[in-house]
Amino acid sequence: KKNVEDLQVKGRKVLVRVDFNVPMKDGKITNDNRIQAALPTINKLVENGAKIVLCSHLGKPKNGPEEKFSLKAAAERLAELVNTKVAFAIGENAKKAVAEMKDGEIVVLENTRFRGAEETKNGEAFAKELADLVDDDVFVMDAFGSAHRAHASTAGVTKFVKETAVGYLMNKEIEFLGNAVENPVRPFVAILGGAKVADKLNVISNLLEKCDTLIIG
Ligand code: 3PG
Repeated sequence: KKNVEDLQVKGRKVLVRVDFNVPMKDGKITNDNRIQAALPTINKLVENGAKIVLCSHLGKPKNGPEEKFSLKAAAERLAELVNTKVAFAIGENAKKAVAEMKDGEIVVLENTRFRGAEETKNGEAFAKELADLVDDDVFVMDAFGSAHRAHASTAGVTKFVKETAVGYLMNKEIEFLGNAVENPVRPFVAILGGAKVADKLNVISNLLEKCDTLIIG
């Protein structure tokens, strides 16, 4: 696989799938870890002069756009953490915002799940639309927390771009998890936490085969 640092991105438009699915309360972000975790990739692309278009989902909106699931707050938080201009674009405005951006600047798109099944059922037209925003040029996958979803913005889009790479977060997690699982130092103890247990049952079954102890918190 290609890494973000293998890319020549100066002046090119790069679509980056991040996982900005941050916890929110009353319109405010209560923990920005996921935004912080995406910074190494974002900063590398900024330094190298790419035009960066970020996309992500937030929550599980069921009926199209809903204010409480907007990525606006995440875009604003990102703007505080990076040394470049960050614009937030909704719907048709995205094309205009991307056309106007300069090298090293960032446009954050509104929640991909506002497109409903087009996103979650990996709709080709939406995947193509995302690729078109960056002139079908470069896609970087750095949304480790969403990499198990075959959605338009994680998987479908890769069919329509010339070049695809993984970001630093993806790479780090693949290496940690790969080494830990394939070549563990024993005793091998796995500690699992988080919500959405149903999604993790396969992971638990796999780990049970390999680890000596599994702790679930
Ligand atoms: C997560 O928080 O687990 C990821 O962002 C994926 O979110 P999802 O379960 O809504 O796809």
